[in-house]
Amino acid sequence: MKFEIFTILPELFTPYLGASILQKAAAKGLVEFNLHNIRNYTHDKHHTTDDTPYGGGGGMVMKPEPIFEAVESVLGSPPNCPVVLMTPQGKPFSQSMAFEFASEQQVGIICGRYEGYDERIRQYLVTHEVSIGDFVLTGGELPALMIVDAVTRLLPGVLGDPTGAMDDSHAMGLLEYPHYTKPAEFRGWNVPEELLGGNHQLIEEWRIIQSLRRTHSKRPDLFQKFDPRSLGKKTRKIYEELLKILPLHG
Ligand code: ADE
Repeated sequence: MKFEIFTILPELFTPYLGASILQKAAAKGLVEFNLHNIRNYTHDKHHTTDDTPYGGGGGMVMKPEPIFEAVESVLGSPPNCPVVLMTPQGKPFSQSMAFEFASEQQVGIICGRYEGYDERIRQYLVTHEVSIGDFVLTGGELPALMIVDAVTRLLPGVLGDPTGAMDDSHAMGLLEYPHYTKPAEFRGWNVPEELLGGNHQLIEEWRIIQSLRRTHSKRPDLFQKFDPRSLGKKTRKIYEELLKILPLHG
């Protein structure tokens, strides 16, 4: 799959995309990260990408022409893939959105700076507006990297363990179970017995119970939304038993 990233600060991406799992995924040809500098699509002497807002007020607004020209020259006019605008006004990013983007051949991501974007970019160019949380950053580059990271690790062959992404927190709508490694005893704190005996059925059940318990206590909103139909027969029974002993608060 290909990411086409539109930004006035491409240098912010290179260290993160050039390290660890993302770098290896690109080197193996599993993903392409293509950076497009919006400034290269300006035609004035100063390579202007922003201007003052009509109607006055503080801050600068990203101009429409360079962004339209950049996106359309890379993705076609109109683009036939998702064009994602990073903005705190967008839909909150989620694991299910990461799966959705991971099923695409190509995804465009536009990163803004300054006070905002000319509204015509939202209206006539982008297909998705995405936020990474209810706070405001100085630009869309970090949010874009978060999306690129979350999506890339879902692509086939990227993680060493092919089940890795399925066990993640949020993949099933639950938080992940606790993990332990050696030593079995550290400062008198012991690894739970269930994990030590090598009984895979017992381990699986213990993990599901822990996932349910911790989702219930840390993220009651997720627990309430959890659809137990995704559980097997046996674990479904455990869920129902847990529901009885863990009444939902409020
Ligand atoms: N740009 C600035 N803040 C942002 C946020 N919270 N999400 C996405 N893009 C942003």
